[in-house]
Amino acid sequence: MTELPILVTGATGKSGRRVVSQLRARGLPVRAAGRNGEHVFDWTDRGTWDAALEGVRSIYIVQLDGTKLVRPFVERAARHGVRRIVLASGRGIDMPGYAQDSSGVLEGLLDSETAVRESGLEWTISRPGWFAQNFSEGFFADAVRVGELRLPAGDGATAFVDAEDIAAVVVAALTEDRHAGQIYELSGPRAVTLGEAVATISEATGREVRYVPLSVQGYVAELVQQGWPPADAESFADVIEPLRTGKDEYVSNGVQRALGRPPRTFAEFARSTAAAGGWPA
Ligand SMILES: NC(=O)c1ccc[n+]([C@@H]2O[C@H](COP(=O)([O-])OP(=O)(O)OC[C@H]3O[C@@H](n4cnc5c(N)ncnc54)[C@H](OP(=O)(O)O)[C@@H]3O)[C@@H](O)[C@H]2O)c1
Repeated sequence: MTELPILVTGATGKSGRRVVSQLRARGLPVRAAGRNGEHVFDWTDRGTWDAALEGVRSIYIVQLDGTKLVRPFVERAARHGVRRIVLASGRGIDMPGYAQDSSGVLEGLLDSETAVRESGLEWTISRPGWFAQNFSEGFFADAVRVGELRLPAGDGATAFVDAEDIAAVVVAALTEDRHAGQIYELSGPRAVTLGEAVATISEATGREVRYVPLSVQGYVAELVQQGWPPADAESFADVIEPLRTGKDEYVSNGVQRALGRPPRTFAEFARSTAAAGGWPA
């Protein structure tokens, strides 16, 4: 399994970038793909797919949210002789009434899971909850920089999962046989509220960050005032809803199951990110 390159899509993203570096740290050959990656690959340009799949045995798939392109991609991968697929999905997607899905993200992820499971290839599904790295590289990073996180999440909590742990699970699934047919739901070890999360970041960075809970209506109005199209603002508020309603508070055991060790805490994430210069002044 290991001499042929491993294709990593989304290779510049939060999970893919770490998968690439953890695989390379083991001396394994990697094809790091994305629109701006080392290997140019665009989900929306099927003309780029064959070159990405040529001579590959295993793939980490980070899909383009809101699309159903994983099914044709997996079919093409099978024709290229790919043997193993690890799919990035999301926690909660099969929970009835988990969230409004106005942008079709959950529907797309469910379709991708079905496609992978029906592919006849070896498959593993990674279903992470909220990434801790949203505070350093994602949705909430700007808010941390300006010192105020304004969200319609009330005092809802979630067990943020460190993308280093997500990548470690993905790497295990790409390189070890025993993960075939597994769905790993991934979270951190304990749910923390957004207030606790920003207080932990404040402690690690020495800068003040506060959380300001907003109403859904107030939040959507703020985003629209910032220039968001109203439909996008509402879709983004939908993404926050499971946090506010407590549906994301549960802890999942996927890291322990896949790796035989507990997941990293939010405080470990905050300290290591601050030490690595992840929140420049
Ligand atoms: N963030 C969370 O808290 C969270 C929680 C649960 C599940 N998820 C799911 O996890 C997935 C996101 O994973 P992530 O956070 O690791 O990724 P990410 O940081 O959002 O990065 C997205 C990656 O996709 C690539 N990309 C974007 N458009 C592309 C296109 N048209 N063709 C090819 N590549 C494209 C980007 O690279 P280029 O720009 O270089 O092309 C980038 O490498 C999503 O499916 C999301 O629903 C996220």
